Amino acid sequence: MKILSLSLLFLLAASVSQGRPSITEPKLIELLTSTNLVETEADLLEKQQLSINYPDCRSWHYGVETSNIINFQTVPANCKDYVEDYLVTSQQYRHDSKTVCKEAYFYAKGLALKNDTVNVWIFDLDETLLSNIPFYAYFGYGTEKHDPETFKKWLEFGKVPELPETLHLYKNLIEIGIEPVLLTERYEELAEVTLKNLKAAGYTYWKHVLFKPNGSNTKIANFKSKERAKLVKSGYTIIGNIGDQWADFAKGRPGRRTFKLPNPLYYKT
Ligand SMILES: *[C@@H]1O[C@H](CO)[C@@H](O)[C@H](O)[C@H]1NC(C)=O
Ligand SMILES: *[C@@H]1O[C@H](CO)[C@@H](O)[C@H](O)[C@H]1NC(C)=O
Repeated sequence: MKILSLSLLFLLAASVSQGRPSITEPKLIELLTSTNLVETEADLLEKQQLSINYPDCRSWHYGVETSNIINFQTVPANCKDYVEDYLVTSQQYRHDSKTVCKEAYFYAKGLALKNDTVNVWIFDLDETLLSNIPFYAYFGYGTEKHDPETFKKWLEFGKVPELPETLHLYKNLIEIGIEPVLLTERYEELAEVTLKNLKAAGYTYWKHVLFKPNGSNTKIANFKSKERAKLVKSGYTIIGNIGDQWADFAKGRPGRRTFKLPNPLYYKT
């Protein structure tokens, strides 16, 4: 190993002393300027191919969490094992969630909160307070499409488990006087079963739970930012906001700080 790295160093030194190497066209650019196909067709083909076989699933996941890879329909088929390992086998998901929740708590605890306002914390619901991993496991960990009606039936069943790290944060924030406001894209028609589910999962107190109006087609980012604006208008201070989708923080008034939980399963707008 030592000999190898030493010779690598010599090689580097040699190439440095030779001055700037001649510039060769990078492969990616060659690919993009390919004239075999019209550009949009090539793009489509590449996208389709990446949804079946992404060369590096960890990189794919990084791209998703950082909002560089957006609008994907399903997890690339070859990343099923990666996602299962991330979420279930290795429990890395739980470790990452813990890191996010810990940072959120340290931030909140460090604030000198004024009591001349209602200090609220926005919680998203699915993949934030509750975890639908059992559902997605059934559909190839996000690699297979599912019918929205099937997902609705799963929610109506009312047995979605908690994400323990968020439950912990939730309780701790209440303890330091911050009021939880639950803001979800679930439709109001699911209110009764959702509240029951939340209580069974350990969430027994909240200031408000805000649902999307039945049948509304408003995008999550628009719906949520509007609801947050209403909260601010009624005199609340949004101290923090936690969710698993970038849409939870988009548009206006995201909160003084936002905390992004991991989610390699889907992307919503
Ligand atoms: C707000 O804080 C002040 C100063 O600590 C305290 O005297 C007052 O009782 C508090 N008011 C409420 C409503 O908690
Ligand atoms: C939404 O649907 C549920 C169930 O069908 C109903 O109870 C509720 O009143 C509806 N809400 C509105 C605002 O129409």
